[in-house]
Amino acid sequence: MSRTSRWATALGLLLLVAGCGGGDDGGDETPPPPVTPSGYSWSLPKGFPTPKEFAENPMSTAKVELGRHLFYDPRMSINQSASCASCHLPARAFSDGRTTAIGTTGEVHPRNAMSLTNVVYNATFDWANPVLKTLHAQALTPMFAEFPVELGWSDHEAEILDRFRFDPKYQELFAAAYPGESTPVNADRVAKAVAAFVSTLISGNSPYDQATFQLNNSAMSAAARRGQNLFFSERMECFHCHGGFNFSQSVSHAGTPVAQEEFHNNGLYNIGGKGDYPAGNRGLWEFTQRPADMGRFRAPTLRNIELTAPYMHDGSIATLEEVVDHYARGGRLISEGPLAGDGARSPFKSELIVSFRLTAQEKLDLIAFFQSLTDWEFLCDSRFADPFGNSPRHSRCN
Ligand code: HEC
Ligand code: HEC
Repeated sequence: MSRTSRWATALGLLLLVAGCGGGDDGGDETPPPPVTPSGYSWSLPKGFPTPKEFAENPMSTAKVELGRHLFYDPRMSINQSASCASCHLPARAFSDGRTTAIGTTGEVHPRNAMSLTNVVYNATFDWANPVLKTLHAQALTPMFAEFPVELGWSDHEAEILDRFRFDPKYQELFAAAYPGESTPVNADRVAKAVAAFVSTLISGNSPYDQATFQLNNSAMSAAARRGQNLFFSERMECFHCHGGFNFSQSVSHAGTPVAQEEFHNNGLYNIGGKGDYPAGNRGLWEFTQRPADMGRFRAPTLRNIELTAPYMHDGSIATLEEVVDHYARGGRLISEGPLAGDGARSPFKSELIVSFRLTAQEKLDLIAFFQSLTDWEFLCDSRFADPFGNSPRHSRCN
């Protein structure tokens, strides 16, 4: 728990990521695309590790294609009005722009819909769930959740599955994805196909990547480079939790000996001076009830962060400028109302959340750095597009 041991862990992780991240050779020929045990060949950006594949859900091109259809299909919800893409919009790097998500029947979710950029590399899924460790297990949550209802499968599974079972297009897609099965349509296989599609949402061709992994010196502006130096400085400490190729300390991929499951309290709340967070949004504490886990959440990736406002688990910070102000203060001050308290003084805040001062220019530089993490090739990639045309890509893609 000491500051030094935290630093040692963070440093160890950086070395681990550097070691596994393909930062190996020095200008060899382009290596062949990584192929998984099932023979699926990932299309990976330079410098990126090969994702993990789970024996119970082998990857295949046909499964990804089925998953893409299901992900965008409004028939995935009880009232045929919402799909995964209703809360994970391609134009917003697969987040939804809302403070917190709203399910298909109008129920409000306590948390902000996460971006799906590079989720395949996460060690755990959701903002603070230490139990969900595969994307196919995660997909069952929005399908079956009741508190709140997201897609509304609970008690309506057969009805929803019949929509796909009797549709000739889906008969073909399921037969190709699950060959040799006499009754291939079931909820488990829906979740697995959707997970296979979501696994392919890999972003690694931002200006930052072009400069860092492709050694293109002119890809980033001078301001973005200055911002990068600030981000990776001991003065700001950001990289300890948002480090590595995915700007998240919580990573797992083929070759990681131990998945890094990390959760931190970054000083958003300190209700009544006791370190409390709002009920229903207490982070890891919801699972463990351990006082020290109060307000601990996973540090999400910062890739495409420019497009995924508002920020934090409850969408309570509207802009990147305000995020920087939050960290500069070393925690958020809420001066009145039921949530009043000074997050900077929370007893549960991570020791890595320190206050710092930035000049106006430095703040602009940091924002320019965040913008250099936006990957337009990813955002406009037609392999990730809605086959039904309901959920458009970003206007810059047209
Ligand atoms: C009602 C809106 C909504 C719908 C519909 C929805 N999601 Fe989500 N999604 C969320 C929210 C909110 C979170 C964060 C949940 C949490 O932390 O408790 C999330 C989290 C995720 C994550 C975890 C990301 C990460 O970095 O850990 C994945 C993966 C995901 N959703 C995939 C899907 C898939 C696949 C579907 C369709 C089967 C889907 N979602 C449907 C709102 C939604
Ligand atoms: C101690 C670990 C830690 C440090 C250090 C840290 N963060 Fe974070 N960061 C987190 C966690 C945890 C979250 C999510 C917190 C929540 O939602 O309650 C987060 C959230 C964010 C978000 C919002 C992400 C989203 O998708 O909503 C941004 C942006 C961000 N951090 C930027 C930074 C910057 C810039 C710095 C350096 C000044 C920094 N972080 C330092 C752990 C950290």
